[in-house]
Amino acid sequence: MKQVLFVGVWLYIIIQSGCTGFNSKTVIEKNEEEIPPAIRNQFYSDPSNPIIDAKVELGRYLFYDKRLSVNNTKSCASCHDPRFSFTDTYRRSVGAYGDLTLFNSPPLINLVFNRYFTYADSSLHTPEQQINNPMFADKPVELGWKNNEIELLKRLSADSFYQLLFSKAFPGAKQSELFTVKHVQYSITSFIKTIVSFNSPYDDYVYRGKKTALDSGQISGMRLFQSARLKCNQCHSGVNFNEPAFKSSPHFNTGFFSDTLIHKGLASKTGNSNDIGKYKTPTLRNLAFTSPYFHDGSVESLQEVVYMFEKGNVSDQQNKHPFIQGFKLSLQERSDLIRFLLCLTDSTILYRTEYQNPWKIK
Ligand code: HEC
Ligand code: HEC
Repeated sequence: MKQVLFVGVWLYIIIQSGCTGFNSKTVIEKNEEEIPPAIRNQFYSDPSNPIIDAKVELGRYLFYDKRLSVNNTKSCASCHDPRFSFTDTYRRSVGAYGDLTLFNSPPLINLVFNRYFTYADSSLHTPEQQINNPMFADKPVELGWKNNEIELLKRLSADSFYQLLFSKAFPGAKQSELFTVKHVQYSITSFIKTIVSFNSPYDDYVYRGKKTALDSGQISGMRLFQSARLKCNQCHSGVNFNEPAFKSSPHFNTGFFSDTLIHKGLASKTGNSNDIGKYKTPTLRNLAFTSPYFHDGSVESLQEVVYMFEKGNVSDQQNKHPFIQGFKLSLQERSDLIRFLLCLTDSTILYRTEYQNPWKIK
């Protein structure tokens, strides 16, 4: 009887540490102070990859480590740099072999609130599903893991510091199964899922009830953003301003880009001609740090973006969304609208220590 109890207790401990690990928390629990209560139930997460402190810690080291690219030239942070809200200021990013990526690098913030990932693929719903792209993509190469996994894992396992971090992050794993692609992916995605950004004047105004957080011009800008005339919030809705307010996927053809010879948008994935020229609606948070804009990074200033929505008539593509019709703004209105967009800026994201490069802080 005693023996049964003994085995039972051990089984309990093993199951606990193997499946959920110690200190397992949701991103919400980890950021109790940061995430406004009103939206705490609106997050998505992959239950097979619970947030564990040791895994987040390991992921943070990996995210900033150039040994993660085939020729030691690029890390995730090369294209997702905290100084620019985890973007890189380039129109299109540069992969390990110097190739340009297809698209502009998006900010990695509030990812657990996103239902879709990347500009032109409606099948990716979590960071865990997306991370194969930067690691294994070969057209163009980003980090260059394809056919090089064994070499890259060997490189990491040769470092005694990583041996320590991996064994802390995956306490249930056998020594021989510690360094796997899956463990690398689960650690990095755990880290990026913890990156949240809700310290903007807009968040203070809407979620924290600080009525002085926005001035009257910015409030007029918000009203314009929400108006039936401009319809911005019809497509830029939800926690991150990247989901439609109506029932639809967030992929739309704005009609701003007619060059489907370069890229067909969502149709390149679905093969459906109705999807030609559709791109995912991007977040409008932290625009102050994420220029240039749009999937191809072709537009540098917010003024220019707003002019494009005002004109609204660049091409007559069949898939162009009817909400992009153009409108006329006065000087004052244009300024209010842009000042409102900039209220969605959280500058604490640039220097919050728990997101910074741990190799430098050490
Ligand atoms: C060479 C530059 C580059 C590197 C290196 C890179 N990324 Fe990206 N990342 C991009 C670009 C460009 C996109 C947009 C891709 C698209 O839309 O198809 C992107 C998109 C993403 C997205 C989707 C975000 C969203 O809201 O849609 C995530 C998540 C992401 N990257 C995480 C990572 C992680 C984790 C790593 C390291 C393992 C990494 N990236 C390495 C350039 C890069
Ligand atoms: C039909 C849906 C729709 C409407 C309405 C709409 N947008 Fe967008 N918006 C998009 C999509 C889709 C993109 C990305 C297009 C691309 O990358 O090619 C985008 C991109 C943007 C960007 C660039 C962000 C970045 O990081 O690249 C800004 C800024 C923006 N929209 C602001 C607005 C404003 C302001 C309004 C109202 C005047 C508005 N949008 C109305 C769908 C919409």
